[in-house]
Amino acid sequence: MQKIAMLGSGFIGRFYADSLQGYRNKDKIVSIYSRREESAKKFAEDYAVDFWTTDMEVAIARPEVDVVCISLPNHLHEAAVMLCCKHKKAVITTKPLGRNATEAKRMLEAVEQAGIFNGYLEDLVYTPKFIKAHESVKNGALGRILWAKSRETHPGPHSDWFWDIEQAGGGCILDLGCHCVEITRSYIGKDIRPVEVMCWADTQVKPIDAEDHSIGLVKYENGAIGQFEVSWTFRGGLDLRDEVMGTEGTIWTNSFLRTGFEMFTTGKGADYVAEKAESNSGWLFPVGDELNELGYNHMFMDMFNSLEQGKAPKETFYDGYVVNCILDAAYRSAKSKSWEPVQLDIWRGKTGVSKDSHLTAYDKDHYLVKEEVTHYGAKKLILKEKATGKIIERILN
Ligand SMILES: NC(=O)c1ccc[n+]([C@@H]2O[C@H](COP(=O)([O-])OP(=O)(O)OC[C@H]3O[C@@H](n4cnc5c(N)ncnc54)[C@H](O)[C@@H]3O)[C@@H](O)[C@H]2O)c1
Repeated sequence: MQKIAMLGSGFIGRFYADSLQGYRNKDKIVSIYSRREESAKKFAEDYAVDFWTTDMEVAIARPEVDVVCISLPNHLHEAAVMLCCKHKKAVITTKPLGRNATEAKRMLEAVEQAGIFNGYLEDLVYTPKFIKAHESVKNGALGRILWAKSRETHPGPHSDWFWDIEQAGGGCILDLGCHCVEITRSYIGKDIRPVEVMCWADTQVKPIDAEDHSIGLVKYENGAIGQFEVSWTFRGGLDLRDEVMGTEGTIWTNSFLRTGFEMFTTGKGADYVAEKAESNSGWLFPVGDELNELGYNHMFMDMFNSLEQGKAPKETFYDGYVVNCILDAAYRSAKSKSWEPVQLDIWRGKTGVSKDSHLTAYDKDHYLVKEEVTHYGAKKLILKEKATGKIIERILN
């Protein structure tokens, strides 16, 4: 059993609390910090939390607290992490880890120096669909992974601070791109070094200083490419879709909007549909079990099992740091309009990986381009002669 101090009682704090305590769960929130007294009290009431406070350090330092869960706006993550280090409390924090890689690196170094358990709450690599798809990728069902794409777009976040570049640290690249980068990085291999990023970003709709729409490419040392598509200006709900393609296969997943649950209602008596749904009448796409579909249950299970077994969870502050480094390169690229290197002062994966070969041998004199049975029953082979480089065709009967 873990006793948790929750910092922040807003949107994600409540999603986390629903997941932590919503089922017949042994873990319990024992301390809640919120900026305003009325929100702290309300959260304490709703989740039967014995202690509430508007002083962050007090919430963390309580002797009964085993682990601190940071659900605060981005600009407060670092201060909260430093307090966890001071009081030697295990810490799990929501995404993004930092507003940039400099902050993330300071947090990573601080938790490691303090010797405390650290977990990065990247829920979207814990969704049931992702876990299953990732298993297939790891088992080789897709062959060599060439390209992984992740899209997260919605009509924009729900609180003022997200829209202020100073507090948030960026726009949709940081807010949503962090998910996409970790999803695609996981498919390609977290031990493969991301080398450079090309990114387009613009402020197309909202009256803000940050970007509200962006597309980026992340190149990895083995030649694989990750792609993210993010937007705070997409209309129609929350679009969460991933694709991964390898030499032997492809997986497409759709985690929201199209989950196989479609409903029509005139809107009479309608209520909550799903996160960021834009309407509650007409044809709707509810989500069966949002906490599970968004990965929260599997994520906390991994975090607390790992904490109890004294090992690192699947996602640590180190992963959060790598994600911030990639996103920093994306911001530089959006400005320079060219490929920008990913600056990773700390890298714990493989080094010197060479680009995978695209030359599949057919026999001692040829490479295989393609093999196909046509609609008229002929087996065709397209080959490349090793000696001359010439492309030839053979028809086998
Ligand atoms: N899927 C996800 O993993 C996911 C989803 C949403 C948000 N988040 C992350 O969670 C964190 C919090 O986001 P949220 O959506 O819960 O925000 P929110 O605005 O709904 O809640 C923020 C909470 O922090 C408290 N707070 C303390 N000091 C504050 C200050 N100076 N300004 C504003 N709030 C202050 C508020 O009282 C509130 O309880 C962010 O880092 C965000 O990126 C993650």
